[in-house]
Amino acid sequence: MSHGLLITLEGLDGVGKTTQLMRLQAWLKEETREVLAVREPGGTPLGEALRQLVLHRVDASSALAEFLTFAAARAELMESVVLPALSRGAVVLMDRFIDSSVAYQAFGRGLDRETVLYINHVVTQGRMPDITIWLRGEPFPADEADHMEQRDREYFSRVDAGYQWLAEGDAQRWLIVDSRQDQDTILHVLQTHIELLMRSNRGGE
Ligand code: TYD
Repeated sequence: MSHGLLITLEGLDGVGKTTQLMRLQAWLKEETREVLAVREPGGTPLGEALRQLVLHRVDASSALAEFLTFAAARAELMESVVLPALSRGAVVLMDRFIDSSVAYQAFGRGLDRETVLYINHVVTQGRMPDITIWLRGEPFPADEADHMEQRDREYFSRVDAGYQWLAEGDAQRWLIVDSRQDQDTILHVLQTHIELLMRSNRGGE
């Protein structure tokens, strides 16, 4: 039976998740039958529309409304893209996933943690990542900051504490990597861990 492999990248804005995800995708194309890279929110027509709305158009005053928008995008992505790919045995790389909601909406904005965990469980149909890579580092402001990036420094330190809480609670799933290392070093560390996972998972062959 094949289960595919679900790899998620997490961390504060601007730590280099997307760069590493693209490099991992290029490498995995040589290593495995099917590799898929998606971003959250996004990855489906509904998800991309919600992304525009929540990141660029309207700043939700309700943390719950903000979370439910991310959760709607996540439900669509899981059901129509990620779960079918995993059942085909694909390796799926995700730029952000469930943990972003815990870090940003629960820790960052103070939304009830149990609510976030529960709704995450519902929308993912219980599928947890096989490995979550936390690129840990200092955020630097992007030139064109979106709504999320314009929030203050204390907000980002609460988000960082959220990631810390998650990683401590499930050390086996989390790989913490210092994002200040050079890109090649980081890639090598990630490849080593993913290779091990692929070896123990026939779906990643
Ligand atoms: P994006 O530009 O994709 O991330 P980055 O800036 O790291 O490249 O923007 C996604 C933003 O949405 C980011 O600020 C984190 C936020 N976000 C949440 O607050 N909750 C979530 O559940 C997700 C998926 C993202």
